[in-house]
Amino acid sequence: MRRLRTALVGCGKVGSLHAAALARLPQSDFVALIDADSQRAATFGARYGAAPFTGIAEAVRATNAKAVFLCTPHPLHANAAIEAMNAGAHVLVEKPLAATLADCDRMIAAAKANGVQLGVVSQRRLYEPVQRMKLAIDAGKIGKPVLGTVAMFSWRDEAYYRSDPWRGKWATEGGGVLVNQSPHHLDLLLWFMGEVVEVSGVAENLNHPYIEVEDTAAATLRFRNGGIASLVVSLSQKPGLYTKIHIHGSNGASVGAETDSGATFIAGMSGQAGPALNDIWTVPGEEHLLAEFVAQDRARFAAEPDCAERYHAAEISNFLDALMAETPVPVPAQEGRNVVQLFDAIYRASRERRVIEL
Ligand SMILES: NC(=O)c1ccc[n+]([C@@H]2O[C@H](COP(=O)([O-])OP(=O)(O)OC[C@H]3O[C@@H](n4cnc5c(N)ncnc54)[C@H](O)[C@@H]3O)[C@@H](O)[C@H]2O)c1
Repeated sequence: MRRLRTALVGCGKVGSLHAAALARLPQSDFVALIDADSQRAATFGARYGAAPFTGIAEAVRATNAKAVFLCTPHPLHANAAIEAMNAGAHVLVEKPLAATLADCDRMIAAAKANGVQLGVVSQRRLYEPVQRMKLAIDAGKIGKPVLGTVAMFSWRDEAYYRSDPWRGKWATEGGGVLVNQSPHHLDLLLWFMGEVVEVSGVAENLNHPYIEVEDTAAATLRFRNGGIASLVVSLSQKPGLYTKIHIHGSNGASVGAETDSGATFIAGMSGQAGPALNDIWTVPGEEHLLAEFVAQDRARFAAEPDCAERYHAAEISNFLDALMAETPVPVPAQEGRNVVQLFDAIYRASRERRVIEL
């Protein structure tokens, strides 16, 4: 099998999922590990068998790496991605693409200037219940998707925010639940319903006095297709309860999934508390499928409860396949930018107390 020379930047929590995948995927020749902290790079190097570096351009040039996987804190994504792209590598960035729209635009411009591909991770698109929803919506089984809801009732404790110095601060994290935990579901909502044209919302810190950023946000959205959506994303429920996304169609039918039971998992620290499951399926003539879907998903989870790496590996595998086939990567940077545009609009709506038009 053809292989691409791969490199990882950021040997931290989610970096461990990327490294495990890059070390075992048949399309990956894992050549370099980069971290600003040389000790972290060395520890990952010993564990995953790639050469440790502290500089990105230096590592890409020394190893001739063709694909770079970027797992630094979000406000550092832009400079690191641009350095890798200027050195000639394609880049897959962890979500969110960046913390600001200006950073997204700099990254997209650098990809174009260097003739390389830039993608963003959104591994919940690959969850089986989410794939079923996408297939049903695209096949027209709910008519037009006209009403969406996202409900995240999750939890992060003080130890989580103290685990790395960048967490919970505007300057080094760029935001709270909107920037860190909710991009997965913002992306799913856009993937299912299309372009957003109008946003109102509020962002608040309800019960985390030891962080600067919001732990909760609520928003209403209007879409170009005439549909509307509401979302509540929160890290303030102890214990964490669930995260769900539901899409209701113009023919009255609904499809939905509980993507996360309990608190959303912390990559590299905790696993999924339970399987992702479809929890609503009222497609005419398919109502009986819900029980089958749930049984399949429960059986898969029972066979492999520690499944977080599987979806990252699938995403990385798809990215490498697209590079080798010279086709567009699965979640291109523009779709990552759309998510950043959405959370940026929710912040603006909250600060300026007005409806934001996009
Ligand atoms: N897709 C998912 O489910 C998922 C899960 C967790 C985290 N993430 C994303 O991954 C990113 C990293 O999160 P994390 O929890 O792994 O953080 P982390 O703090 O555990 O790891 C970040 C690593 O980057 C290194 N680093 C910092 N600046 C660097 C630089 N300039 N050059 C090289 N290395 C540098 C740090 O030393 C650290 O090892 C965030 O953007 C986060 O949103 C995604």
